Amino acid sequence: TSLERPVRWVALAGFMGTGKSRIGWELSRRLALHFVDTDKVIERVTGLAIPQIFELYGEETFREYESEILRRVTRLDLVVVSLGGGSFVKRENQELLLARGPVVVLSASPETIYRRTRRSSRPLLKTEDPIGRIRTLLEARSSAYARGDIFVSTDGRDSAEVVEEIVEKLW
Ligand code: S3P
Repeated sequence: TSLERPVRWVALAGFMGTGKSRIGWELSRRLALHFVDTDKVIERVTGLAIPQIFELYGEETFREYESEILRRVTRLDLVVVSLGGGSFVKRENQELLLARGPVVVLSASPETIYRRTRRSSRPLLKTEDPIGRIRTLLEARSSAYARGDIFVSTDGRDSAEVVEEIVEKLW
C-alpha cells in the first residue's frame, strides 16, 4: 500500500567527525522516521558523558555498553540510528547491524575529521598528534567500514546534499 515505507530502519556508521549525528537527524526528518544516537543513549542510561566512561571504566567497558545498546536498537522499527565511530568495528556488531541493515557508511578526509573534532571531547583523539591518530585509526578501521551497504562522502558538502545522496542510494 502507499502507507508502506520503503525504509523503516537505517544506521549511519563511519569515523568520528564524518557527520553521523547531524546527517542522521536530517535524514530522519527527510524519511519521517524516529532518530536515535547511540552515544546519547549510552550517556543517558549511564548518567555519564562518554569521556567520563572512558576515564572511569576504560574503553573495554565502553565497548560492552555499546554492544548492548546496539542489540537494543536493532529491535526498534521506523528509526534512523546514528552509531558511535567504533560501533561498526567488531565483527559481532557488524553482523548484528547488517542483518537489520542497511548500514550507510559516511566518510571524510583526515583533515576534515580533525577540523570537525578538534574542539570536542573524543577520548581516542586526546593525544599530541591527533591527525596522526586519526590516520592510524582510519587505516585500522578501513576494512571494517568497507563492510557497509552504502558509502557516502561528507567532505566539503552541505548536509542537504548528503541526505539526498543517501535517499537516492536507499531507493
Ligand atoms: C568513538 C567514537 C565516538 C564515541 C567514542 C568512541 C570511536 O563517537 O563513540 O568516543 O571509537 O570512534 P563519534 O563517532 O560520534 O564521535
